[in-house]
Amino acid sequence: MCGIVGYVGSQQPSGRPLEVVLEGLRRLEYRGYDSAGVALVSPGASLATAKKAGKLANLVEEIDTHPMPAATAAIGHTRWATHGAPNDVNAHPHVSGGVAVIHNGIVENFATLKAELEAAGVAFTSETDTEVVAHLVARAYAQTPDLTQALRTVAQRLHGTFTLLAVHGDDPTTVVGARHDSPLVVGLGDGENFLGSDVSAFIASTRDALELGQDQVVTITPTEVTVTDFDGTPVEARRFTVDWDAAAAEKGGFRSFMDKEIHDQPQAVADTLLGRTDTTGRLVLDELRIDEAVLRAVDKIVVVACGTAAYAGHVAKYAIEHWCRIPVEVELAHEFRYRDPVVDERTLVVAVSQSGETMDTLMAVRHAKEQGATTLAIVNTHGSTIPRESDAALYTHAGPEIAVASTKAFLSQITAAYLLGLYLAQLRGNKYADEIGQVLDELRAIPDKIQQVLDRAGRVREIARWMADTQSVLFLGRHVGYPVAMEGALKLKELAYIHAEGFAAGELKHGPIALIEPGQPVFVVVPSPRGRDSLHSKIVSNIQEIRARGARTLVIAEEGDETVRPYADEVFTVPQTSTLLAPLLAVVPLQIFACELATAKGLDVDQPRNLAKSVTVE
Ligand code: G6P
Repeated sequence: MCGIVGYVGSQQPSGRPLEVVLEGLRRLEYRGYDSAGVALVSPGASLATAKKAGKLANLVEEIDTHPMPAATAAIGHTRWATHGAPNDVNAHPHVSGGVAVIHNGIVENFATLKAELEAAGVAFTSETDTEVVAHLVARAYAQTPDLTQALRTVAQRLHGTFTLLAVHGDDPTTVVGARHDSPLVVGLGDGENFLGSDVSAFIASTRDALELGQDQVVTITPTEVTVTDFDGTPVEARRFTVDWDAAAAEKGGFRSFMDKEIHDQPQAVADTLLGRTDTTGRLVLDELRIDEAVLRAVDKIVVVACGTAAYAGHVAKYAIEHWCRIPVEVELAHEFRYRDPVVDERTLVVAVSQSGETMDTLMAVRHAKEQGATTLAIVNTHGSTIPRESDAALYTHAGPEIAVASTKAFLSQITAAYLLGLYLAQLRGNKYADEIGQVLDELRAIPDKIQQVLDRAGRVREIARWMADTQSVLFLGRHVGYPVAMEGALKLKELAYIHAEGFAAGELKHGPIALIEPGQPVFVVVPSPRGRDSLHSKIVSNIQEIRARGARTLVIAEEGDETVRPYADEVFTVPQTSTLLAPLLAVVPLQIFACELATAKGLDVDQPRNLAKSVTVE
């Protein structure tokens, strides 16, 4: 939610600060694309700003028409609007008395602060909460001309969530950042330093980074990085190296990031599995620094997550309960803490998040910790807040996911959650080593099978293009196919703006069947006929029920399952695997369907309307 970049380089003004910041904004645009803006500082020339409503391309066009001066420091912002319409005036940076400020988050006490400033004669130009901060920093700087101190003073007065970056026209070699409940990382360069909402902001320049903690202020100059808390006490920031490079964050010849990321999935699953066993084949999750005695004593698991990550949790529930015989609840993170959930020191709360920054999920983790639960994060993004605040982290290795709607992160989240389930089963003696080894072998075969699904996706693409004018699509599944159906529906809503619903196939007769009318397209995720027979035969009956009422049935079935063909208008096959692993294959045609249909409608599949990838507001 809002992308932030900061840069400071050598004393010689040049075009590099602007280049770095625009490049960073390009990589962060997935966080919001309602408007974009930059502020530059150069010795003598003081402060210059440019901002424009709409996507980054509009800002770039504006700068091409009205070139900006050479500079030594720069900040840039890409916005997902909270306070005030997404227009030029509300775009960041906001400027007051030589200070330019950009902001990610929400200042909850902005009305009180605004009233105070207005009473003191300050005139506001925008409707944003951020402008309040710009005026406050400018006033603090006017009293003591030290930008770091000014930001610290102001940060202490703000309620809500924020990452703030500020520059001052009088100080061409300093960028200051402050964070409270919103992300900010530092990139370490040679004679230059960077700030970003995440490492992708500066990955083209450096892979050396510093993780900032909660309530910290950072000052970067070309040669120094200083981190303190809000009181000015110096603090040590953790250094880390980013394990992917700029090429991984490019489209690599695909027409969209979404398309590329769907094709990255074999690798994402393989990488998430990599290095998780010792020489004897025993599962080792080294990162999980939770006392084994604590894990043995766990009597309940609660998965907290949002969006696609929550559906990964739903899939994991079936496997973990089956393998470990521990009850697993899956809860939308934003519902969790408001309903006084029953968690205690024997509860393991697993937060699943691609970004590691989703505010709802972070708040659920904090609430769980307050209740004494052990918290574990399944996260893709290093240096993010959720793993830092959790007791332990299990990283997925999906690489950077840029498209706003999640695909490869989903598959790697399921994979990581399965590793967790198997690890708990191993630790608690619920499964023999050879049984665990067998599942691991099956998991290792999944990347090749995903590749087969991708290789035979021509038909699903063709059907998607034919269906570009469809108004509504339903998705049905049973058991692990149920969350797959919900994820299929979510992808279609997000990417193609089509009404779509995922239902448990057994629930159909209790209401949703009323929606079926002649021609209604319905995807059905069919479990393996080799699994629990009753499951398969029940869903075949469900297909017949909707077919009898005129539905057009689009069936995802296992290779060799001929029983569904007589009742299906279209069958998309996936390779054979065990029932619990089938979601890793069955969801892929649904992702491709949504992506292709949205593309056929001429929509931007990487940046769907109204959405943001990293939702850092509640
Ligand atoms: C947003 C994104 C979704 C994502 C969800 C959770 O809503 O648009 O694609 O699934 O956040 O994100 P997380 O980073 O926590 O997995």
